Amino acid sequence: MWVMKRLSAALTLLLALYLTVSGVSGFGQEKMLAPTPPMGWSTWNHFHHAISDALVRAQTDAMVSSGMKDAGYVYVNIDGGWEGERDANGVLHPTSAFPDMKALGDYIHSKGLKFGLYTGPGPRTCAGAVASYGHEEQDAKMFASWGVDFLKYDLCSYREIMKAQSGGDIAKSDDLMKAAYEKMHRALLATGRPIVFSMCQYGLGSVWEWGPGVGGNLWRTSGDISDSYGRMTSIGFREAGLSKYAGPNHWNDPDFLEVGNGGMSPDEERTHFSLWAMLAAPLIAGNDLTQMSEETRSILLNKEVIAVDQDPLGKAGDRAYAEGPLEVWARPLAGGDMAVAMFNRLNGTVRITLRLPDVGWKGAAAARDLWTHKDIGVLRGSYTVAVPRHGVVMLRLSRAQ
Ligand code: GAL
Repeated sequence: MWVMKRLSAALTLLLALYLTVSGVSGFGQEKMLAPTPPMGWSTWNHFHHAISDALVRAQTDAMVSSGMKDAGYVYVNIDGGWEGERDANGVLHPTSAFPDMKALGDYIHSKGLKFGLYTGPGPRTCAGAVASYGHEEQDAKMFASWGVDFLKYDLCSYREIMKAQSGGDIAKSDDLMKAAYEKMHRALLATGRPIVFSMCQYGLGSVWEWGPGVGGNLWRTSGDISDSYGRMTSIGFREAGLSKYAGPNHWNDPDFLEVGNGGMSPDEERTHFSLWAMLAAPLIAGNDLTQMSEETRSILLNKEVIAVDQDPLGKAGDRAYAEGPLEVWARPLAGGDMAVAMFNRLNGTVRITLRLPDVGWKGAAAARDLWTHKDIGVLRGSYTVAVPRHGVVMLRLSRAQ
């Protein structure tokens, strides 16, 4: 009996190992492509369609010289705007602004960085450019041959196909969407190249519930971000309750960063960066890396906040409690630490009280302020602090000695 039990436990373990290694488990691709939320930079938020090979090379260089690479940013992602026309053999060519994608990929790799690209399951992208419908395997192979390491797959015109083929039946329409993502996931797997799969379908059909099953390493939870405090917070704070869906290799993505693009005050940008770190969100910068102010650098390169985002435990944070527009969020960290963030969404400075039992912390806590980079001593019971308009105080708590 005992031998049988041991044998069956060993077999179960072997099967689990096989499923994970072979990718059959459905959780992401076969390897851990994103054990922590992906970090990098994308063309979209700042440059939109005004992109070229030269621009991407300049940003790649700046990623290294600015210290972003050393801080952990690794993907250089070309979003929409690179696509030209498909030829008679079905081969999709880049526009003339990208004369040699393979050479560009090689350049990015030569700097120790990784290369990301964008397409979608529909015939057209949201901007009306050619996308991958009916050419999924062919495009995946070509991307792999260019050295692509990350693919953002944007639903866009596929919604029209879903509508036409489902006849308005929502369950059917959702199944078509899932199948479209699964199809590209399979095509990427078949290339044999590890490619992070970034799903962009604006959170439709509660994607967090099925995204990992179709190979998503990250999935957008909302429509597009824009460079304003209102839009950024409406997306970020709306993720409350979704923490349980995030974890190693499959992350909620509230969209890329607007830090450094000029539409938010420094306090608002610190809120943006802190909230994304609490959410275990991908940190994909979206500014011009060749023109960063000291203020922008101090935010994007805040290694203590990045360490929260990249915490190896991989458990996302969530809202612990809120009093109207004053919100306290908590995130469990490896080794028993905890990150807490006190957000003030009001228009003036307000004192916010962190109540340790209400964030699930027992006993006293040694606290460090992650924006002033100072230890603030041992907290017992509660801690009250002034938080500026639209600002944040973010702490790391450790067991008090
Ligand atoms: C949107 C997408 C944006 C960006 C844009 C490019 O659909 O949500 O993140 O990729 O398309 O046209």
